[in-house]
Amino acid sequence: MLATAAACFLLLGSTHASPILPSPFSISINNPNHRRSKSPSTHKPQPGPGSTHNNNQTYVPPYPNPGILAPLPSWFKWPPPDTLAVTPRYKPIYTTDELVDFIVDVPKGSVQTSVTLHFEGVGSTPFEATVHPGTNVVSVPKGNIDISSRNVFAVLGTVKARAAFALYQEPTPGTSHTVRVDYLHGSLVPQQSGSSLTSGSQPLFPFGMYAGFSNFGEVDPVGAMQELKAMGINHVNFVPPYGNGKQILACIKAAQDAGVSIQYDMRHTYINTTKVTTEVNSFKAYAGLATWYTADEPDGQSVAPEPKASIQAYRTIQSIDPHRPVMLVLNYKRDSAAQFAQAADILMTDVYPVGLDPSNCNFSPEGGCCGCDGCFGDLGIDIRRRLQSYRSQLAEIGKPRTPIWMVLQAFSDPNTCWSRAPTPDEYRLMAYLSLIHGAKGLMGWIYPQGLTKELKASLPGLSAELVPLASRFILGGEQVLEYTDTKRQIAAVNSGDKAVTLTEGEVATIFGQDSALVEGRRGMESLAVLILTTV
Ligand SMILES: *[C@@H]1O[C@H](CO)[C@@H](O)[C@H](O)[C@H]1NC(C)=O
Ligand SMILES: *[C@@H]1O[C@H](CO)[C@@H](O)[C@H](O)[C@H]1NC(C)=O
Repeated sequence: MLATAAACFLLLGSTHASPILPSPFSISINNPNHRRSKSPSTHKPQPGPGSTHNNNQTYVPPYPNPGILAPLPSWFKWPPPDTLAVTPRYKPIYTTDELVDFIVDVPKGSVQTSVTLHFEGVGSTPFEATVHPGTNVVSVPKGNIDISSRNVFAVLGTVKARAAFALYQEPTPGTSHTVRVDYLHGSLVPQQSGSSLTSGSQPLFPFGMYAGFSNFGEVDPVGAMQELKAMGINHVNFVPPYGNGKQILACIKAAQDAGVSIQYDMRHTYINTTKVTTEVNSFKAYAGLATWYTADEPDGQSVAPEPKASIQAYRTIQSIDPHRPVMLVLNYKRDSAAQFAQAADILMTDVYPVGLDPSNCNFSPEGGCCGCDGCFGDLGIDIRRRLQSYRSQLAEIGKPRTPIWMVLQAFSDPNTCWSRAPTPDEYRLMAYLSLIHGAKGLMGWIYPQGLTKELKASLPGLSAELVPLASRFILGGEQVLEYTDTKRQIAAVNSGDKAVTLTEGEVATIFGQDSALVEGRRGMESLAVLILTTV
């Protein structure tokens, strides 16, 4: 029996009529001509410019490379298993954990079937495990690891990889609150009261928003947090300045009461260790606080990227509160991710392509703003390029599993680079593009002043659609967005500016899959197509 019976069906969003797009995307869900699914690597190349499809429409790709759909193999290249890599699965790891999980990424084509993990420290014992090419999770009894160990070395034949890690004491209750990063799925796992960290705690998929503190912090923190909650926002970054200590505290409490987790932002203070120390000590006891945030675009403020202060801030926070992840946001398209990887547990990046005038908005060391560095002002291309660039940089420095969150444009600013704000369809498309290209969380910039009425009204629906989907398919323990022989989930976005119709044969060729879940949408500049399927 093949796909049809096992495939589940998801129809997300409605199809809008549009006079300029005569042909809606359509795929027959029940193709009688079942074919055995093929591995992505055996797929035929997609039609080139000017080729004619079976439906007699001439297809001309709008950009040099994306084709009808983003090239399939890249979606499954997570992590790119070109080199051996070892990553502690969780951060933090506690001295009370009985087993310590390590993710061992074994290069494709490796003939070695055994990896040995070595740990520093006289009390450590090497641990050997059987592995296969691709992703492996190796659970090491804590007894094998000397408490002083700060490095793990994976040895596979003659190849070696290293990762830093540390064992921490669990926080005394009431002094901090643990939010683990699970580097297998790239998720945040906040500890629920009464559950252990590895069972009973659900991953949080951040459908988040930056919120300008000065707009509500002194006036109506409770109302603002309730409004954000009603918009489906589950993670909020208050943007300083924060007024006096009382006001930020009122906001933290309002967010906690509303059930919205908090990202505490130190963008104006992170370069000052004394201030960082004071802030972290003041707020670390609040359970609603999930993530610390240091620098805001430290790589693009008209100066050469300089990670020193961010790394210092990271170390300071770690020394006081190693129980929560530290974030920072990058904007510079070149080697920023590699440069700043040491300064955060999770990197964020902001790509704002809508209504963009790229001529004035790229980074230059001599000055100039960094509105959307390296962008073309095209949603189909800018988000993908940034994420692909950052992911390959992180892979190159041996940190392929560093999660990246995308900050989505939820504003316009005609006085600088952005003549208009995204429509709800565009915001949604950017969200899917981000997830497909590996983002593990989404934030929007910025509530309340940036949000149009239309976008605001669309967010509850998008949140209801995305959060369960992402929690299950992207962050879930159940399934991850990756290819195996027996199981696959496919997500596709048509990043072109025209609706396309694929025949059943083309679906089978492109996806190796003759029964697919399809969304066809029209009436937007780019067409989002999401296909999720399990064989
Ligand atoms: C496609 O075009 C060819 C040649 O113009 C024509 O004979 C054929 O009927 C067309 N097929 C469809 C499905 O319209
Ligand atoms: C850092 O902050 C402290 C406390 O506010 C202040 O006394 C000190 O001057 C600051 N240091 C620098 C270099 O600005």
